[in-house]
Amino acid sequence: MPKVLVATEKPFAPAAVEQIKAAFNEANFECEFFEKYNNQDELIEAVKDAEALIVRSDKITQEVIDNANNLKIVVRAGAGFDNVNLDASTAKNIVVMNTPGQNSNAVAELALAMMVFQARNQFNGTSGTELLGKRLGIHAYGNVGRHVARIAKGFGMKIFAFDPFIPKETMEAEGVTVYDTAEELYANSDYISLHIPANEHTRESINYNLLAKMPSGGTLVNTARKEVINENELLKIMEDKGGFKYLSDIAPGNASLLKEEFPERVFFTPKKMGAQTAEANINAGVAAAQQIIKYFKTGDTTFKVN
Ligand code: 3PG
Repeated sequence: MPKVLVATEKPFAPAAVEQIKAAFNEANFECEFFEKYNNQDELIEAVKDAEALIVRSDKITQEVIDNANNLKIVVRAGAGFDNVNLDASTAKNIVVMNTPGQNSNAVAELALAMMVFQARNQFNGTSGTELLGKRLGIHAYGNVGRHVARIAKGFGMKIFAFDPFIPKETMEAEGVTVYDTAEELYANSDYISLHIPANEHTRESINYNLLAKMPSGGTLVNTARKEVINENELLKIMEDKGGFKYLSDIAPGNASLLKEEFPERVFFTPKKMGAQTAEANINAGVAAAQQIIKYFKTGDTTFKVN
């Protein structure tokens, strides 16, 4: 009877918890929920005898891995796995997986919601603008970017994208105009919706030079990761480019300074909430459970990322 720990500092919705429990019950797996913990030490203690681990943005550091001597698989219930130390996992033969696409619609809906919120002057009652006819540049056309395109079409936005990893024809077939460089995308978009992962190639890659290309009054919407933004250069662009706006699902390190200096041009959610819907939690949580069950029963490693 494999022992699974679901360690979520930010808990899944109750309906998702029920369905994850039901999936493990049916498969005869032992499953424990460890939610809203206070620090890494508590997590390290909790993983000690787990054989499988489901996490969200929880930090699975070298230390966590070092202390998890029975662990065989970690599934990040979500898309980005930058919170899991892959080298440490691989060194101990621990399989790491994600659940791509399962929470994407929730994130995409939040990106569009933030655009409307800012276009209407943060709902302060003054006369705002509309999304209809505006140019939306999607930076990375993966699962979330694709949902953003679908929803934005409903708003009547003109959709553009840059993604060197997706065939141009795929994007064009979905009614998206493709640019060959990020620079061109930024120069020709009123809104940019960012969906790149955080890794050694992308960290701090959204910098002054790129943002300076945006038209005046341009808006950058970040539902990806704060690490991909060069925060000092973001501050400088806010200072230099009068109408530039930054909306993010994860407050940057210098959030309080930005909020103080540019209250009308920045917005940050209080806690990362793009994927915080019952539907996304059910989709990602149950997919994670099923992937673990399949791995133990058949050795299936689809969605392995290490
Ligand atoms: C993801 O990478 O799947 C999203 O950023 C969601 O993260 P969360 O599970 O911490 O809400």
